[in-house]
Amino acid sequence: MTFTEPVSTPLALLLLGRGTDPDSERGVDCPGELPPSSDPDLVARAEAARAALGDRAFVLGHHYQRDEVIRFADVTGDSFTLARDAAARPDAEYIVFCGVHFMAESADILTGPEQQVILPDLAAGCSMADMAAYQQVVEAWDVLADAGVADVTVPVTYMNSSAAIKAFTGEHGGTVCTSSNAERALRWAFDPVARGGAGGEKVLFMPDQHLGRNTAVRQLGLRLEDCVVFDPHKRNGGLTVEQLRDAKMILWRGHCSVHGRFTADNVAEVRRRIPDVNVLVHPECRHDVVLAADHVGSTEHIIKTLDAAEAGTSWAVGTELNLVRRLADRHPDKNVVFLEKTVCYCSTMNRIDLPHLVHSLESLVRGEVVNRITVEARMAANARLALDRMLALP
Ligand code: 13P
Ligand code: SF4
Repeated sequence: MTFTEPVSTPLALLLLGRGTDPDSERGVDCPGELPPSSDPDLVARAEAARAALGDRAFVLGHHYQRDEVIRFADVTGDSFTLARDAAARPDAEYIVFCGVHFMAESADILTGPEQQVILPDLAAGCSMADMAAYQQVVEAWDVLADAGVADVTVPVTYMNSSAAIKAFTGEHGGTVCTSSNAERALRWAFDPVARGGAGGEKVLFMPDQHLGRNTAVRQLGLRLEDCVVFDPHKRNGGLTVEQLRDAKMILWRGHCSVHGRFTADNVAEVRRRIPDVNVLVHPECRHDVVLAADHVGSTEHIIKTLDAAEAGTSWAVGTELNLVRRLADRHPDKNVVFLEKTVCYCSTMNRIDLPHLVHSLESLVRGEVVNRITVEARMAANARLALDRMLALP
C-alpha cells in the first residue's frame, strides 16, 4: 500500500504558502480573531473558557510549552506520557494539545473517532519531523531492497515524525519510540523472538540520527562503526551496498534544531565555570555532547533527576529553555543553569501562546472547532500498529 504524501507539518504549509492568513503574522489556518497578546484579561478569559468546557475538554501540555500555557494544562508530560494520557481519556470530547503537530496527530490516532484533537496554532510543527518526508522514506526502503537488506531491517521511527511515516513503520513491522523508551524499542527491534517475526539484523532509525546513535552505542553497546547515516538528499543515501550490508543501525540524516546546537565545548566551558557541576542532557544532543555529559535522558528523566537531586548541587541542563527555566524556579535550593547561553527556545513549541489557547478554548465554548488535527483512517490504522507496539514494549 502507498500513501500520497501529506504535507507533513504546518511548517511545510508555511513554506508552500498554503492556508496563510495575510492579515495575521501568527500562523496559518487560524480562523477568527486571535485575542491580542497585550489583552490584560487573557488569563481570566482562559479560566472562564476552561471552566465552561469542564470535562468536555482535556488540555495536554508538553514540558517545553510556555508557562502561560502550562498553567492551563490538565496534565503535563513528555511525548510518551502525553500519548498515553490522551489515549486514557475516551470521555473527553475535545483534546486540546499544547505541543507540536506530530504529537497532536498521534493523539488523534490514539483517541476515538468521536473525539476531536485541537492544536491551538497549526504552525506549531517540528523541524526534525520535517526532515523525513514519506516519499523519501519509500525511496530509502527501495534502496535497502536493492541492496538486499530490506527483509532483515526493522524500521523504528521516533515519535517526532509524521503520521505517514508512522504508518509506513507500522506496515513494515516496526515501532514508534520516544526518547524515554528508545533503548527498549531498539532491543525489541533486534530481537526476532520478542517481535514474533523474522529479520531484525538491522534497524532503519528515523528521523533523529543522534537519538539513534546515542541509544545504540551507549545503551546497546554497538560500535560507532556499526552506524551509517542515510542522507535522503544523496543518491542511494550516500551509501554503498557494502556499507548498507555491514551496518546494524541505518540512521536517517535528521536532527533537532534546538538540541543539535549544544556542543562539547559548552560542556567544557560550564565545567570550568561551575566546579562540581553535573551536566544533564537530552539524547537528541550530538554524540560528543552526550559523551561529555554526566547524565543523559529524556525530558521526563531530566525532571526526575533534578527532583531527586540533593540541595546545594549544581546542574547544567541541555534541553529546551522553557523547561530549564521552570526547573530552575522549582528548585531554588539547587543551582540549575542552561547549558548554553545562545541556544533559544524551540520556536515551534513556543508558537502555542495564551492568545492561541484562548482562541481555541473560546471557539469550543461557542461550539466551533478550530485548528482540528485529523489523520486519514487508513493511515491512522497503520500508524496505530506502530504506536501500539510502542505502548506494549516490555
Ligand atoms: P520528549 O520525547 O522527551 O518529550 O521530547 C520531545 C521532543 O520534541 C524533544 O525535542
Ligand atoms: Fe522538534 Fe526539536 Fe522542537 Fe522537539 S525541540 S519539537 S525535536 S524542533
